[in-house]
Amino acid sequence: MHVLVAGGAGFIGSHTVVQLKNAGHDVTIVDDFDNSKATAVARVEALTDSHIPLHVFDLCDPDKTEALFAAERFDAVIHFAGHKAVGESVQEPLKYYKNNLDSTFSLLRAMATHGVRRLVFSSSATVYGDESPQPSQETYRPLQSSNPYGWTKVMNEQIIGDVARAGGFKVALLRYFNPVGAHASGTIGEDPQGIPNNLMPFISQVAVGRRDKLTVFGDDYDTADGTCERDYIHVEDLAAGHLAALEHIDEMVEPVRAFNLGTGVPTSVLGMIKAFETATGVPIPYEVGPRRAGDLPVTFADPSRARDELGWQTAKSIEDMCADTWRWQSANPQGYPG
Ligand code: WQD
Repeated sequence: MHVLVAGGAGFIGSHTVVQLKNAGHDVTIVDDFDNSKATAVARVEALTDSHIPLHVFDLCDPDKTEALFAAERFDAVIHFAGHKAVGESVQEPLKYYKNNLDSTFSLLRAMATHGVRRLVFSSSATVYGDESPQPSQETYRPLQSSNPYGWTKVMNEQIIGDVARAGGFKVALLRYFNPVGAHASGTIGEDPQGIPNNLMPFISQVAVGRRDKLTVFGDDYDTADGTCERDYIHVEDLAAGHLAALEHIDEMVEPVRAFNLGTGVPTSVLGMIKAFETATGVPIPYEVGPRRAGDLPVTFADPSRARDELGWQTAKSIEDMCADTWRWQSANPQGYPG
């Protein structure tokens, strides 16, 4: 298929493009480089020994989006494009609602106009909110969030679902848990701008000497070691989940269906620190600080629907996630150049 990957220069997008190309699909990337670098595309081209058409513009521009669909014939769209920092979304809700919804409106309108009927959407476990029983199940209702970023995912799922039901689309909503890791080559990986919000990039920046130490946000939770537990999933397994969704989408009976993409196994913060030190031999100095507002004690996936319906499950271990993250970070201490 010829797949348009919206946000294809980003962390998960770039890893997914590599797997799409290796599986024989044609790919076009559209990205505005708001939270990514052109270097990532060049690295993906090197990994796949190919030229990947790249269009650089903001998908919130409906005219530019329409023009792209008028000029190219796509068989499917994978939509990664969007702002994703929880804390920033609380400070700047309008920026998040406009960007994360307008980009979807532009894409859906252009897809409908040009008969592009397959969509894989980057959603998030954050749509389960703070009350859902664990492990998280796709059937859980009501979907909700405690932050504007999460609400944009709930709203996008609703909007995309309504359009799918009305217009003959087939849509897979992929609910990510905690994506970490990097391609085994160490040439592409996660490159957060500024101080990392997330645990793994902060650990890897401590390991490479960009940060002095990690602060563990609380060790008095009701868990085995007192620190929060999360379902960390290797970005390569996550990318494979997108390929599986795309390759099964025509067999889907429902016009829209959500799938958890996680390992089904929770790991604590201290557990991740230990795994990183074991996998890399690099000590990670840390201190325990106060809890971070909004953190849940435990979240992890029931991944059985994706296993049963997409024939997909994770293969990489926590040690793989740490070793691959370290190979990327130590080869690219400052992330992507440029
Ligand atoms: C994991 C654990 C922290 C940093 C977020 C988003 C979610 C999704 C994935 C987009 C928590 C602890 C972290 C640090 C720490 N993103 N931690 N010190 O919060 O589970 O999920 O990223 O879809 O929407 O909310 O991931 O990596 O921020 O935190 O102790 O410096 O690590 O308290 O327990 P989180 P995280």
